[in-house]
Amino acid sequence: MKHEILEKNVVLLAVLILAAISIGGLVEIIPLMNQKAATQPSAGLVPRTPLEVAGRDVYIREGCYNCHSQMVRSLHEEVMRYGPAGQAGESVWDHPFQWGSKRTGPDLSRIGGRYSDDWHRIHLNNPRDVVPESNMPAYRWLTEQPVDGAEVASMMRALRLAGVPYGDADIAGAAEAVAGKNQMNALIAYLQSLRAPRPPAGPQRTAAAAAASPATGEQP
Ligand code: HEC
Repeated sequence: MKHEILEKNVVLLAVLILAAISIGGLVEIIPLMNQKAATQPSAGLVPRTPLEVAGRDVYIREGCYNCHSQMVRSLHEEVMRYGPAGQAGESVWDHPFQWGSKRTGPDLSRIGGRYSDDWHRIHLNNPRDVVPESNMPAYRWLTEQPVDGAEVASMMRALRLAGVPYGDADIAGAAEAVAGKNQMNALIAYLQSLRAPRPPAGPQRTAAAAAASPATGEQP
């Protein structure tokens, strides 16, 4: 039997398995790389402000993604709880994206506007003050750490290289925009920016566009 030859030859079997997996992978991955829905920014997506860029850096540095996802799956119960399902076009300017893979805490991709800045400050200082059963760590020191304007400008330059449409004026104004702010302010600004992109209102929003992004409710 021909198959027996395969089963008894480990090297040949390994090579053929590798070939099969590679072809399967390429067939799935290559079309995605050319799909507009996955490579173009969603309608209404805006680049982050300098303060939000600084806050996102704090989010990554502190490992918030280890406990929080930023991707609402298109399951009924998720959409009911968090808001419109995540679209690939929302994260084309996020380098690296923060979809995450673990939810010790809730998804945060629609957290913007849900709580006040004060709530976030109290919560980040000590989560137990507002959610007694919380096991989220406290991040008290962020208030004492200033935001480094030059660093924010260089982060924005790096993001521009990766395709985020920042102009020279945006980058030149970055240091001034974050002057006097601490890392707590930055992190909260970032959290408040996390929401579903709003497509421009009016006639541009066609029925086809609405069908392509099935939003089941407005964000609060
Ligand atoms: C060890 C896991 C863990 C880490 C790390 C963590 N969190 Fe949480 N987070 C939780 C849990 C659990 C909850 C739910 C209880 C609560 O609200 O405190 C939560 C809740 C939240 C909420 C409120 C969400 C809602 O819908 O009510 C926000 C905002 C939040 N976390 C932000 C952050 C940020 C920002 C960081 C990083 C600086 C972070 N978390 C790090 C576990 C974590």
